[in-house]
Amino acid sequence: MKHAIYPGSFDPVTYGHIDVIRRAANMFDDLTVCIMDNKAKTPLFSVEERAKMLRKVLKNIPNVHVDTYSGLLMDYAREIDCHIAVRGLRAVTDFEYELQIAHANRTISGGWLDTIFITSSMEFAYLSSSVVKEIASFGGDISQCVPPEIEEEVIRKMKQVHPEYYPECP
Ligand code: PNS
Repeated sequence: MKHAIYPGSFDPVTYGHIDVIRRAANMFDDLTVCIMDNKAKTPLFSVEERAKMLRKVLKNIPNVHVDTYSGLLMDYAREIDCHIAVRGLRAVTDFEYELQIAHANRTISGGWLDTIFITSSMEFAYLSSSVVKEIASFGGDISQCVPPEIEEEVIRKMKQVHPEYYPECP
């Protein structure tokens, strides 16, 4: 059985992630979407909140499962006996970072963990969780970036963090 992991922060999941997930799910028998820590980022949503959102938007893709892990991707891959990681590439700027991480994972795992890249669809090449949070933090419209149920959660969170941009209706 062909099994792959799609690791990421998913803070929150965007249409760009979902595009990569759908396409990877067509290539593998089983795809595990795993929420992991990126030490360079301070997440807006807790791991549990992110997992709940991912499960909600991915519930109709039967061969996709959502998991969470705190630790190295390589260790998680060994634990679930999976040796392929999938990552999305939007632009050349992603490539440099992704190439380095792919080499690091392959090296520290003693060749166990390979990474394959899926290029993002053109329409989502601009999209990232950070862009979503930036737009939403100023009260902007994120409906083109995330599914409606995720938009709802982002707005709920932003109302707490940036209430000045979300005045209550009288
Ligand atoms: O969505 P992101 O933030 O680009 O995802 C990055 C992530 C979470 C996949 C990456 O930071 C990661 O793999 N974190 C777990 C720790 C690890 O294994 N790092 C790679 C070894 S250098």
